[in-house]
Amino acid sequence: MRVTVRAPAKLNLFLHIGEQHADGFHDLESLAAFTEEADLLEFAPSDELTLRAQGPFAGALPGVPDNLVMRAARALDGNRGAEMALCKNLPVAAGLGGGSADAAAALRGLNVLWKLDRTDAELLAIAASIGSDVPACLLSRPLWMAGRGEQVAALPELPPVALVLVNPGVAVPTSRVFAALNARSGTGRMAPPAAGMKTVWDLVSYIADTDNDLEAPAEAIYPVIGEVLAALEHEPGCIQAQMSGSGATCFGIFQDGPWAGGAAGRIAADHPGWWVRATRLAAPGFGAPLVLAA
Ligand code: C5P
Repeated sequence: MRVTVRAPAKLNLFLHIGEQHADGFHDLESLAAFTEEADLLEFAPSDELTLRAQGPFAGALPGVPDNLVMRAARALDGNRGAEMALCKNLPVAAGLGGGSADAAAALRGLNVLWKLDRTDAELLAIAASIGSDVPACLLSRPLWMAGRGEQVAALPELPPVALVLVNPGVAVPTSRVFAALNARSGTGRMAPPAAGMKTVWDLVSYIADTDNDLEAPAEAIYPVIGEVLAALEHEPGCIQAQMSGSGATCFGIFQDGPWAGGAAGRIAADHPGWWVRATRLAAPGFGAPLVLAA
């Protein structure tokens, strides 16, 4: 038996930061959603626990022992082996939760490969011990994030949304952006969205009065983020452009897929060093493990 799992990129449709606690972490509130742009993981039975990484961003990953996928596997069951392969399609340290998505995908996939039948609550507790974004990535669906990010509540599905993701090729350490934070929206400013959003316009009007509080400090350290936002905003059909997480990836919300595709082509042509993808929000079940015969 082999198990494959997609690890979709996470977007913060808004991100409000609140108080800082004694442990250094901040309270936050965020509407997060996941895209069809994803890493891919594959798991096969083995006596030893091994990880092989390939794909366009494999070279930017930390060494195997420290990789979040290894940490997730050991946290799930320290005594079992598996041959794990990761196709790293998503840029690293990019505000897309890529490493967290890989760790969460490992929890979903190995739970099936090892026939552990861990409940969602058990997997969420393990996920929270690995990193602030891993519980969100475990659910890989529209959700409300609170606490330091580890408190997650599933939300109703969002309408279809066409997106362009742009990363200018700078790796952004999250802790550095938090350290440069000056203005905070605070938590409690927004209520989770109600069910029944039908179109992208419903979503855009919901997030109209929100911010990503990390955008200003990230842009102050990495001014190229301002160029990315300007490039997206310049495109016809772009309704809104915003940074995700602590950056540097920004996303544009587009009227529909053809507008997004055209914009991605032009931005990529004008900026050969940038990573540019037209994508859309993932449908339910996009990150569910798929069992294949060996
Ligand atoms: O949990 P994670 O490793 O993703 O966090 C990276 C860094 O981001 C932390 O070391 C901390 O500096 C900052 N952070 C924070 N408040 C949060 C989440 C992360 O200050 N809620």
